[in-house]
Amino acid sequence: MKLMIDDANLENIKKIYEFFPIDGVTTNPSILAKNKKQPFEVLKEIREFIGSEAQLHVQVIAEDADGMRQDADRIQKELGNNTYIKIPATKEGLKAMKMLYEEGFFITATAIYTQMQAFLAAKAGAEYVAPYVNRIDNLGANGIRTTKEIYDIFKNNGFKTKVLAASFKNSQQVLELCTYGIGACTVSPDVLEGLIKNDTVAMAVKAFARDFEGLCGTGKTMANCN
Ligand code: E4P
Repeated sequence: MKLMIDDANLENIKKIYEFFPIDGVTTNPSILAKNKKQPFEVLKEIREFIGSEAQLHVQVIAEDADGMRQDADRIQKELGNNTYIKIPATKEGLKAMKMLYEEGFFITATAIYTQMQAFLAAKAGAEYVAPYVNRIDNLGANGIRTTKEIYDIFKNNGFKTKVLAASFKNSQQVLELCTYGIGACTVSPDVLEGLIKNDTVAMAVKAFARDFEGLCGTGKTMANCN
């Protein structure tokens, strides 16, 4: 399963990249707005930092298919290889996906709240579809179940489209989808930190170090003990 950062703040991205095994970055218009820098200024900085091999997912703003196509052209031109054009899975979005797929763009269908949106986006040529796990939960439905069913639909229909699950609020939601073997998750920096944060583990590691120092002396490690 690929793991991506759902953020556009370069400092946050750098901090996460230093420690976590990360495959790319996803953004959306609200994430860009929160960052307060001009879109292409920050997106180019992110591309430069993550390199041309990593995935960068960037959303169109236009709501009609022709406008989406123009947004996609600019995004692709500015950000280069391995840039995925995020297109909301609306009726106009499906039209844009079909056109852009024919032209060889990588498409991530976004704003996925239902299995049927995902099915149609896959048929229209999306490389990824992004179901919004937590937002689906907030509607009183079940985001994990919806995401698993989308995965099953793709498998049972022989689609090459992969699931890029998004909108997570806790580790359990991510874990359930890792266990199921979906294609990718995109996770905010604070939820990513929560995947490994565990005071019991930290205490166990401290106790190992204390015991070793009892044997070899303060500050000693395998690098400098006798
Ligand atoms: C990804 O495609 C979505 O834009 C994003 O993950 C939504 O996350 P949120 O529900 O935390 O805003």
